Amino acid sequence: MNHFELKGGELFCEGVSLADVASAVGTPVYVYSTATFERHYTVLRDALVAEGIKGDDGGDPLIAFAVKANSNLAVLRTLARLGAGADTVSEGEVRRALAAGVPPEKIVFSGVGKTEGELAFALKAGVGEINVESEPEMRLASQVAQSLGTRATIAIRVNPDVSAGGHAKISTGKSDNKFGVSFSEAERLYANASNDAGLNPVGVTCHIGSQITDLEPMAQAFAKMRGLVERLRGEGLSVKRLDLGGGLGVPYFNQPEPPSPADYARMIAKTMNGLDVGYAFEPGRMIAANAGVLLAQVQHIHERPEGKKFVVLDAAMNDLIRPAMYDAYHEIVPVRPREGEPVVYDVVGPICETGDTFTRERALPPLQAGDLVAFLSAGAYGAVMSSEYNSRLLVPEVLVKGGAYAVVRPRPTYEDMLAREAPAPWQ
Ligand code: LLP
Repeated sequence: MNHFELKGGELFCEGVSLADVASAVGTPVYVYSTATFERHYTVLRDALVAEGIKGDDGGDPLIAFAVKANSNLAVLRTLARLGAGADTVSEGEVRRALAAGVPPEKIVFSGVGKTEGELAFALKAGVGEINVESEPEMRLASQVAQSLGTRATIAIRVNPDVSAGGHAKISTGKSDNKFGVSFSEAERLYANASNDAGLNPVGVTCHIGSQITDLEPMAQAFAKMRGLVERLRGEGLSVKRLDLGGGLGVPYFNQPEPPSPADYARMIAKTMNGLDVGYAFEPGRMIAANAGVLLAQVQHIHERPEGKKFVVLDAAMNDLIRPAMYDAYHEIVPVRPREGEPVVYDVVGPICETGDTFTRERALPPLQAGDLVAFLSAGAYGAVMSSEYNSRLLVPEVLVKGGAYAVVRPRPTYEDMLAREAPAPWQ
């Protein structure tokens, strides 16, 4: 469920008309709904709590929002206020989470290539869990911690060798992916870490991929994780936390409904069968995707003599790269749909490459130059993946709450863009 709806023939975000946002802020622009973020977070938390899934302090489980999905500070603040933690993958993301008011103990630091500097920053900040992805990385974490006179609180990331995920580029849990270690290696590393003066191993973690709409591969991976926790405990090692990685996939179009948060929570409770451990989760897409749209304006309708019709927008692949990169489907809805029979269009951006195509041969309500359209489900992996390719200004972001909205990332000016660079001294 989300809070983008047609009211009186016009698309609204909560109580705000998207046409009003477009005329005040210009297009392209991302628009987010506070109510949708809040709803998705609380529905997930309540579903987990209802199944008796707890955190390692005996309270709510840790829901560490995957900052990579949407790292806008106002968005992170919205979730932090509800009690969310943050799953981060760089010093920049750790800094964002801290700046948004996420307590350091609720920050998880993941990623296969954390540098010495990033580890030192995270340790000084007191992040709650460093997810170690390989033996060399574990050694580095220990060295850095010892040089700072502390111990790194770590979880070992296991690669459960389960196939899942909507697209090869976002599947992570097969043994030929770069992520995590095997189960046998995890047991050895965990035992070593328990005797290491620079490490405090608290748990294990896995993440098998993103946009997963089938619970079966998750259940398989989680059952293997449960076995690992039991084996480690059998060896006398303490395991306080089990971090089950990213969340569910979302419906991008009229496909069969993905499992609900309640189905997900039930599957976990069943798979874990009373395993007494503190649970952590790293969902991104299921919280953010349907909480945002990308608004764009039709520049021209370009009609080829042979009949093909291109809708040329002012948004491009630099603003929303998912269709170009993953062949992703985003629903496109006119902000003020016109009457009339649907027309088959290719919807494209103005960038000089054929990949700058949002969709081919899609039937949409008739469009004219000047019309506004919204790309739905663009709140996750949308603005965060934007760039200035073709020297297009970085796309702004707006957050709506009820009848109010705020520009939470303004559009830079061309002067801002040029001022970041400088001629070389010999020029
Ligand atoms: N935890 C880890 C370790 C991850 O690698 C990811 C996503 C997540 C959590 C969050 O997963 P989610 O709940 O969002 O499924 N740019 C791609 C998605 C890349 C996902 C990478 N890892 C896209 O636009 O589809």
